[in-house]
Amino acid sequence: MNLAKVLSLLSLISLVTAHARIRYPRPLAAPVETPAGNHYNGPLRPDGSDFPCKGLHKRADVDKTPSVTWKAGQQTYFEILGHGPGGGEGNLAAHSGGSCQASISFDNGETWKVLHSFQGGCPRDVQLGSNMAGKNQTFLFQIPEQTRAGNALFSWSWVAVTGNRNEYFQNCASVRIDGPGASTLDDFPDMFVGDMSLTGHIGPGECRSTAGFSLEYPNSGRALTVTAVGRISFKKPTNGKCFAKASRENSTPVVPLSTSTTADNNNSVVQTETINSASTTAFIELSSTTLILPDSVPPQCISYTTITDKTRHVSHPHYIWCDNAVFKSEPMWVRFSGAAGTRLTSGPMEPFHCGTQGTGWYKGIYPTSIGATTSGSVCYSWPGNVCQWSNKISITNCNGYYVFALPAPPACFLRYCTV
Ligand SMILES: *[C@@H]1O[C@H](CO)[C@@H](O)[C@H](O)[C@H]1NC(C)=O
Ligand SMILES: *[C@@H]1O[C@H](CO)[C@@H](O)[C@H](O)[C@H]1NC(C)=O
Repeated sequence: MNLAKVLSLLSLISLVTAHARIRYPRPLAAPVETPAGNHYNGPLRPDGSDFPCKGLHKRADVDKTPSVTWKAGQQTYFEILGHGPGGGEGNLAAHSGGSCQASISFDNGETWKVLHSFQGGCPRDVQLGSNMAGKNQTFLFQIPEQTRAGNALFSWSWVAVTGNRNEYFQNCASVRIDGPGASTLDDFPDMFVGDMSLTGHIGPGECRSTAGFSLEYPNSGRALTVTAVGRISFKKPTNGKCFAKASRENSTPVVPLSTSTTADNNNSVVQTETINSASTTAFIELSSTTLILPDSVPPQCISYTTITDKTRHVSHPHYIWCDNAVFKSEPMWVRFSGAAGTRLTSGPMEPFHCGTQGTGWYKGIYPTSIGATTSGSVCYSWPGNVCQWSNKISITNCNGYYVFALPAPPACFLRYCTV
């Protein structure tokens, strides 16, 4: 007779945000490129309270002297800082890439006009599921000939493929335009604004991108570069007034003049990502419960780890948790109970549930006789592929409950989903 050793791993409490910023043109109040934490390159607030520019364009203590002079008509560029994890301010967390726009404002951030849309492939050369990007993060665009001379605000705005859906990134730089032009580009489309709320203008659920897709701009503008990245499709945002509040609602949609398309069909599988996490371990007292088991029942039915975490249940929404933080390469015997349910889900799952992105479901059969063990695959669903990743597991029938031998999934953000 044994007293069951029961231990519950409450899943990780983790907050993961993407991080990115531009290096050129130098954004307002940008810190020097030495490791200094990841504050500056984080997203704007989900409630829109620091849109635009994190409010830096209106702060008295921020130097607004133009950091560059661009000639109207010239080709110029912006450059995203860093190309992968490594810590510090320059750190880029590419979150599978995304879509970004170069835009300009002539009224100190009230309205914004798009100069160039990069739909997909921003940052460049990022694999699905990876936080690493290629080394070349220079993106070319043109300053229109007719652009008004004088000071203006430049904006780089970004929506990532994976990560939280309330993250809209924007860096602003003070720039000077030289030339004979006088146009504030009113006939250009408005910069896309979304994945955050703007009081009285963009409500919850409006102008939201979809995780797992590159944002397709509803109104991309004249200069559009579309980059198809293997296994990542394009998707328009949900409806809404997806532009700055002061913009005129009926700004004319314009037909792209030039579209260039590049393709990256690299299907190699993702790299894993280290997440900042704090984990909590709770021990559950089973003071009055002893398990009396027949001799034939294998030891894993007596000694196992209990997981009661409700966030891995199928009914739980999307979040960025990763089972690599719970399981190791050596399988661990686990019993699911309480709010976690009792079993792994056994049919293809919608991705973006169970507190994760790629949702793990069991493809094999459960053992029917007591003490028997079966093995099978767990598949992880992703948009367009219900078995984008997989790994082997075993299940033992313990006469009234099952225990599962689970290794770490092959990538982040994947989890075993329960029901
Ligand atoms: C980086 O990419 C840009 C845009 O494709 C290209 O014009 C430039 O030559 C590249 N730079 C390097 C160093 O490869
Ligand atoms: C695909 O990506 C992997 C990892 O980044 C790289 O080693 C490989 O050379 C790439 N293959 C192609 C065809 O680009």
